[in-house]
Amino acid sequence: MRIPLLNAGFVLLTTLCAALPADGQTLDYAFFKERVQPIFLKKRPGHARCVTCHSHGTPPLQPLANGASTWTDAQSRANFAAWKLFVVPGDPLKSRLLLHPLAKDAGGDHFHAGGKHWKSQDDPEWQTLAAWVNGQTVGGPK
Ligand code: HEC
Repeated sequence: MRIPLLNAGFVLLTTLCAALPADGQTLDYAFFKERVQPIFLKKRPGHARCVTCHSHGTPPLQPLANGASTWTDAQSRANFAAWKLFVVPGDPLKSRLLLHPLAKDAGGDHFHAGGKHWKSQDDPEWQTLAAWVNGQTVGGPK
């Protein structure tokens, strides 16, 4: 009886560990603020800016103050709290933030009412989002 019980415990433990993000896959706030948010503000040809729609949609972006070109720290923290729910730390290809605006033939999902902003996973902006999901910090890889 002892060995099967030990085995069951081991399986449970490994399952639990697999469900938790491994070390180094924590989402970094400073990286989000300095590298990810500019992507939400940038105008891409043929598309509205993410902020234009998402300041009154889901996931929500804080509305920019009149004349402001970026968010305050408090607003950035609110953006971070909202958008981290749309990624799976350590797994860009399971993260809706990365799949939704990515062209379907590049591995993206079917449809985003806001359009497909990236044609390839090699796009530097897409790579920046992936780096954030993979736990990169502003100073470099963890
Ligand atoms: C023209 C308006 C518009 C723009 C521009 C836009 N979006 Fe969206 N987005 C929407 C709408 C509407 C939805 C909800 C319907 C849907 O999922 O297509 C949505 C949904 C989403 C979702 C949620 C997916 C889910 O699974 O619930 C994500 C993530 C997202 N957008 C990311 C972005 C990013 C990143 C950008 C900029 C690169 C962007 N959107 C630009 C309108 C827009």
